[in-house]
Amino acid sequence: MPLLAFETSCDETGAAVVHQGKVLSNVVSSQISLHAEYGGVVPELAAREHLRNLVPVARTALQEAGISAKCLDAVCATQGPGLPSALMVGLRAGQALAFTLRRPFIAVHHHEAHLYSPWLTGSPPTADFSNFQPNVSLIVSGGHTLLVHVPEELRAQLLGTTLDDAAGECFDKTGKLMGLPYPAGPTIDRLAEQGNPSAFEFPRPLLHEQNNDFSFSGLKTSVRYFLRDHPEIFSKRQQIRDLCASVQAAIVEVLVTKTIRAARRSGVRCVTASGGVACNRALRAQLAAACQREGFCLRLAEPRFCTDNAAMIGVLAERKFQLSTEPTTFDADILPSWAFSDSNQGAAFAEARPVLQ
Ligand code: KG4
Ligand code: ZN
Repeated sequence: MPLLAFETSCDETGAAVVHQGKVLSNVVSSQISLHAEYGGVVPELAAREHLRNLVPVARTALQEAGISAKCLDAVCATQGPGLPSALMVGLRAGQALAFTLRRPFIAVHHHEAHLYSPWLTGSPPTADFSNFQPNVSLIVSGGHTLLVHVPEELRAQLLGTTLDDAAGECFDKTGKLMGLPYPAGPTIDRLAEQGNPSAFEFPRPLLHEQNNDFSFSGLKTSVRYFLRDHPEIFSKRQQIRDLCASVQAAIVEVLVTKTIRAARRSGVRCVTASGGVACNRALRAQLAAACQREGFCLRLAEPRFCTDNAAMIGVLAERKFQLSTEPTTFDADILPSWAFSDSNQGAAFAEARPVLQ
């Protein structure tokens, strides 16, 4: 079933065509340069850009897939969680298109879609569900840090989350303190490559707590005090590289240790990871090393499927539709704070209450 997917939960406008698990096109228009000036995502600007970009991005996705809108069997979009005004653009556009074409519309939970992006492999990228294994999934982005137990397809149990800043936020905010442009995560990754991760000692928050939760705001504060006490570092390139490597080492050690511990406790033999921070090379390398030590299989989403994209939305929507989830109604509303339910997501959807009436 060729299906057109929209993703507009934050600052990427995405459209993709998915057919029988294959990603026929995946177009993303990033707003990073627009928000960089403000040091973070400005919701009103994000919504305005989605409005401007969604139709051209959708047209390109259809063109690249070589199909016309009339050939679509369904349309889907992210319903939540995310920025309300941004979500509204993709959800309403998807509903309107489905209604016009007289096709079913399927609404998708953004984080549930992240759970399946590590299963997209090959060329063209294809969802590899025949090899699905029960897993523990780490979702790490600018807004979220989640550990999720996925015992079977379309079932998910939230194990832990961040109590304050997300891992990506910690990269971005500590980078800002160092004077790096937004978003600082990719720059820290690059500078850290030539730095010494043991040069400076930073706290590993909640590392030894036996829960699955994270906390990164204390780490950010200790970087703030460190820079206050060592202002000379700003003029020393190698020391900035060492600082990047040391901060990154603290974040990565916590993420890897807690992910592996959660996998052991859940009794799974497979770990997956996605979200923008899962592009981080130290995180990828250290997760790989830890999984090898434990005898776990590791599935890391390809970098283009780590960051927000519509392909993962389409793949999940098609799977839900195949496994006979009811289509979403055309008047279903956005769910900006849609909790990651610990039950079957289909059931969770039926119970979810719209935030905006
Ligand atoms: O998933 P994403 O594209 O968007 C949302 O937050 O929804 O994630 C963006 C986050 C930013 O905080 C960015 O700094 C971080 O992912 N990021 C990285 C890397 N690439 C992106 N953090 C560390 N290392 C990277 N290579
Ligand atoms: Zn995301």
